[in-house]
Amino acid sequence: MMLGVWALLFLWGLVTPCEGLLETVGTLARIDKDELSKAIQNSLVGGPILQNVLGTVTSVNQGLVGSKGLLGGGGLLGSGGIFSVVEELSGLKIEELTLPEVSLKLLPGLGVQVNLLTKVGLRGSGPLGGLLQLAAEVNVSSRVALGMSSRGTPILILKRCSTLLGHISLFSGLLPAPLFTVLEQMLCKVLPDLLCPVVDSMLGVMNELLGVTLSLVPLRALGSVEFTLATLPLISNQYIELNINSIVKSATGDIIDFPKPHVPVKVPPKQDHTSQVIVPLYLFSTVFGVLQTNGALDIDITPELVPKNIPLTTTYLAVLVPEALGKLPPGQQLLLSLRVKEAPTVTLQKKKATVSIPATIHVLSSVPQGTPTALFQLDEVLTLNAQLAPSATKLRLSLSLERLSGKVASSSAHIFDASLLEEWLNKVLRAVYVPKLNVNVEVGIPLPKILNVNFSTSVLDIIENAVVLTVAS
Ligand SMILES: *[C@@H]1O[C@H](CO)[C@@H](O)[C@H](O)[C@H]1NC(C)=O
Ligand SMILES: *[C@@H]1O[C@H](CO)[C@@H](O)[C@H](O)[C@H]1NC(C)=O
Repeated sequence: MMLGVWALLFLWGLVTPCEGLLETVGTLARIDKDELSKAIQNSLVGGPILQNVLGTVTSVNQGLVGSKGLLGGGGLLGSGGIFSVVEELSGLKIEELTLPEVSLKLLPGLGVQVNLLTKVGLRGSGPLGGLLQLAAEVNVSSRVALGMSSRGTPILILKRCSTLLGHISLFSGLLPAPLFTVLEQMLCKVLPDLLCPVVDSMLGVMNELLGVTLSLVPLRALGSVEFTLATLPLISNQYIELNINSIVKSATGDIIDFPKPHVPVKVPPKQDHTSQVIVPLYLFSTVFGVLQTNGALDIDITPELVPKNIPLTTTYLAVLVPEALGKLPPGQQLLLSLRVKEAPTVTLQKKKATVSIPATIHVLSSVPQGTPTALFQLDEVLTLNAQLAPSATKLRLSLSLERLSGKVASSSAHIFDASLLEEWLNKVLRAVYVPKLNVNVEVGIPLPKILNVNFSTSVLDIIENAVVLTVAS
């Protein structure tokens, strides 16, 4: 497994994010470095990472400053007198760790440089047993690689970590100049061991957060969409790019393989200090495909469902298309059975989202307690305008019927001109079908979870074959 990660890291080093025309069925997420900084900063706030360092003692007897280290036989300061002083110095306890200021630099093709600027408050006994209190500014500098875990999630891996000692302020106690130098040298030796684990813990929190990118988003009872990384994460100067696959599963867990149209998407450039998510047409088609295969786009329209002012009787039909009724008497109720046999077509272009639903409408007449009689069948295409609105976890959809076009597919009496029914059918569908559709499309278009980015305030733009969400960081 380790070998796998290394191989992936190596490959990743050779690629950089693409600009411009892209053929994608995946969701593209471009996370600004500000967003990454923010997530790192948040991982340090409130959590136990910093607290864990408190109380640690800059031990002299073992490790770096011990007999085999700095002070050992041939060491820098191997003389008895100073040794006891240094032993006391090295018993300093970390009392306080200031919340680090995170600064981050993306290194295209290499990884991420993460610097944590912090201040370490230390306390102990100084020369002659006096209280010694001091604070040292430290720059914890680390090099982190970005790869893909065996589960297919983005993962940050610590490659190098070192500390740079800055200014030391003495609050209480006395420390003559030679001992100050000893102190400095001692801190230089022990601080990496004390503070680099902070970076490791921080990456652990970040990786948990990044791990959520690979998530199973339920589409109510219809199924689910699983997001996984399609390729290794890419790094540019300003952002990290994740190419995320969406795998659609039915309610029983089977993978539904919808046709993947390889349509070009012209990815707009990303502004600094914003993150961008590009939702491909494929995800829209997929959600409507799932709705269609689950029968969620079908409806049986009975007179009880229709408002009183819209007639659903043979009497009214006789006015519009008398030839359609044959010998059927007036005054009977009508039933409309609408079935969607093929997946709807979604179009994203010219700042507009449109859904075309091909529907077969069986029109039947019914008498109480009797078997309904088939009158005729219409093949219609419903063109609906989709209003899109971002929320924290998905794109909300709201449909309105724009137009209807169809023809008579079969009739028990005479074939007639379907356009004569259009106005009436429009009213019926608007009143009964569209509201039902809007309840079912509340599943929305799921968005991947990326570092707690909240999409609800994002700016939405419909481009050719995709929707672009821009979130300020
Ligand atoms: C911290 O260390 C890094 C790497 O050595 C350096 O690039 C950065 O400028 C330092 N930051 C400060 C504030 O000293
Ligand atoms: C996302 O932001 C909106 C508006 O600022 C807020 O109402 C909502 O609670 C946030 N959602 C999450 C999951 O953080």
